Amino acid sequence: MAANILDGKKIAQEVREEIKREVEELKSKGVHPGLAVILVGDDPASQVYVRNKHKACGDVGIYSEVHRLPKETTQEELLELIHKLNNDDKIHGILVQLPVPDHIDEKAVIDAISLDKDVDGFHPANVGNLVIGDECFYPCTPHGCMVLLDKAGIDPKGKKAVVVGRSNIVGKPVAMMLLARHATVTICHSRTQNLAEETRQADILVAAVGRPEMITGDMIKEGAVVIDVGINRLDDGRLVGDVHFESAAEKASWITPVPGGVGPMTITMLLKNTVEAARRKC
Ligand code: GUN
Repeated sequence: MAANILDGKKIAQEVREEIKREVEELKSKGVHPGLAVILVGDDPASQVYVRNKHKACGDVGIYSEVHRLPKETTQEELLELIHKLNNDDKIHGILVQLPVPDHIDEKAVIDAISLDKDVDGFHPANVGNLVIGDECFYPCTPHGCMVLLDKAGIDPKGKKAVVVGRSNIVGKPVAMMLLARHATVTICHSRTQNLAEETRQADILVAAVGRPEMITGDMIKEGAVVIDVGINRLDDGRLVGDVHFESAAEKASWITPVPGGVGPMTITMLLKNTVEAARRKC
């Protein structure tokens, strides 16, 4: 089987057009969605991510401000800024770019963000609401995976979904979202025995382990839908996913490319969550 490509770049663009219209609608009601992004330190990758988030906001008409703080910033100073933004009416979403420097307690930072402005969906109460199926912000990358499935017309209901990776940011939440959509879900990780035996059961396979091309075609069931969350830079400069694309594409019915699959969806979902946060203020 030659797989269909789940084109995240194209789908992200379509969703951004919808978001643009929603922003206009909210503005006409007197609410201008606003996002504050905080970056502590000078990690080069984080600088790129933050720049992209700021630009994406501008493209869809969301107000955004970036707070670039020196790496020596104390936890108290950071918490003070978050507190200020929690009480700032023009800000509907707050995102602290991770990782933060070692001397800052990441958990204390996430806990300090007001629940109704937690557009990353990382606050423990948000995570709890996701698990029990209450109103919450979906974390951006898993949310992007689910939108990709929807746009390809794939209903998880009754399907066997296997998630490889158990991170708080992707593996666990995407497993919960698939479960909420009535999939039968297995979570695999580095200690899983005979991983291939598990992945070969999957109608929907989500790879989020951060290991270049570790999922190969022989580990994939004929006709499976393969969502590759990994973005790994190889020594030769190539960017690859957690899935070996060429061999997997021979077995899958749908597959996301890297780059251009899940990646473009992540920031798009951040924009969506920011608009949703503003809508709740209407
Ligand atoms: N660092 C890498 N990915 C993310 C993300 O989705 N949100 C935040 N806040 N930091 C990140």
